[in-house]
Amino acid sequence: MKTYYIWTVGCQMNEADSEKLARELEARGLRPASRLEEADVIVLNTCAVRQSAEEKTYSKLGELKHLKKARPEVLLAVGGCMVGPDHSDLQKRAPFVDLFFRPVQFGQLLTTVEQAVGRAPATAPVLTPDGRVGVPLQLDPRLVRPDFVPAVGEGCVDEPSAVGKPNRPTRWVSVIHGCNRACTYCIVPLRRGREWSRPIPEIVEEVRGLVRDGAREVTLLGQIVDRYGRDLPGRPDLADLMAALHNIEGLWRIRFLTSHPADMTDRIIDAVAELPKVCEHINIPVQSGDDHVLRRMKRGYRVEHYRRLVEKIRARIPGVSLATDIIVGFCGETEAEFENTLKLLEEIRFDVVHVAMYSPRPGTAAYNWPDDVPPAVKKERLHRVEELQERIAREINSQLLGQEVEVLVEGQRKGKWEGRTRTNKLVFFEDERPWLGKLALVRIEKASPWSLQGTVVREVEFVEPPPVPLRPVAQIA
Ligand code: SAH
Ligand code: SF4
Ligand code: F3S
Repeated sequence: MKTYYIWTVGCQMNEADSEKLARELEARGLRPASRLEEADVIVLNTCAVRQSAEEKTYSKLGELKHLKKARPEVLLAVGGCMVGPDHSDLQKRAPFVDLFFRPVQFGQLLTTVEQAVGRAPATAPVLTPDGRVGVPLQLDPRLVRPDFVPAVGEGCVDEPSAVGKPNRPTRWVSVIHGCNRACTYCIVPLRRGREWSRPIPEIVEEVRGLVRDGAREVTLLGQIVDRYGRDLPGRPDLADLMAALHNIEGLWRIRFLTSHPADMTDRIIDAVAELPKVCEHINIPVQSGDDHVLRRMKRGYRVEHYRRLVEKIRARIPGVSLATDIIVGFCGETEAEFENTLKLLEEIRFDVVHVAMYSPRPGTAAYNWPDDVPPAVKKERLHRVEELQERIAREINSQLLGQEVEVLVEGQRKGKWEGRTRTNKLVFFEDERPWLGKLALVRIEKASPWSLQGTVVREVEFVEPPPVPLRPVAQIA
């Protein structure tokens, strides 16, 4: 019996890709190895968003060089966003790697594995002409059987995770791949290519399978998830997709990320407001609170547009929680420009802010510009954002003290049950009973900027809402 191990860094899309690859490998008779060192097939699914993400892969490759020497029969594949159309530099740095593949393009890897194990899956995957794997409309039952346990990581850019962890009730589902924008700092479009959406029936079928497999919540993923469907016949949108998924019995919660301020539509906001299964949480990166910086980033909106958008979202969706991404120290960012970002954070009061120091990426427009904010200043700005946000998040979360919140329990950590509220707040509680995959009503007793703690009051029974009508386009897309 051959075994595999998938090591993943990067965003939720990479996590989702790794899960999909795991399913495809399982369909070819492979089993997860408990340790990377023992696996017959080792896959690194990489991220290139910042230099620091690439360094993680390089240090892993350093370890694997020795492993490959000791066990040359191991199939070592490196894929994901570090693999561009021309990856000769990477190949030179790691000549011992057997195979490189671009994001989601698993075709060659799977063919190689099939040759090695002498077995093809019962249901062939849908391979697009360039070798991308789609989920077959008729899912192979082995892809959704209960004893198959693909991992779900935290989806954090900087924490490597391994596929093979116990199954969780919350799952990622990529619905639109690639990105058609060209923010001047960003390497993602260069590595993930043009946008393409998966048809609604295919996604519905996949989510049905996940629900049969114990999933209760799905997060729909895309670099700009609001642009879902524009390339499909009839142009269904994210609201149509969420309505179609809403009608799947046994699915309790729907989330989506990432939204773009210039692409978020009223229909999407209405869907969040009106569909009971869609959670009141929106991840909408602003990147900077200064119009000059936004223009240099080529983000396609001004701060005022963002303000109005947030006002609209808050008026339409009471209790909504908001997350954002910020880059500090972008080319030419002055102290005054940076302070505009602090002012915006103070004014909007996000629930969560992901902040990163600008890292020049080869091939992007900004790569040709001077990276002129000194590292020490970038670091200082990063800390100022973190400090400000820590205070704001502490204040926001403290308002939940004494309140009862509904938590979908995702797993256990250090002897405590762990789950999230509809607004995506992390909640811990201690209890002897089995809670995995259940809804718990928890009274909040402790609040920190990053998480909440409380005591369980009772189990909440999920009541399936009545089916929602679908626009015809959502049925045929
Ligand atoms: N598609 C999403 C995010 C893609 S990358 C969006 O449009 O917002 C995730 C985050 O990484 C970005 O939001 C940005 O804040 C950060 N990021 C991207 N490129 C970066 C770079 N070169 N340096 C530092 N942070 C970067
Ligand atoms: Fe990158 Fe901009 Fe596309 Fe987001 S919208 S993936 S930041 S180019
Ligand atoms: Fe990294 Fe690629 Fe995601 S660059 S952040 S893994 S889209």
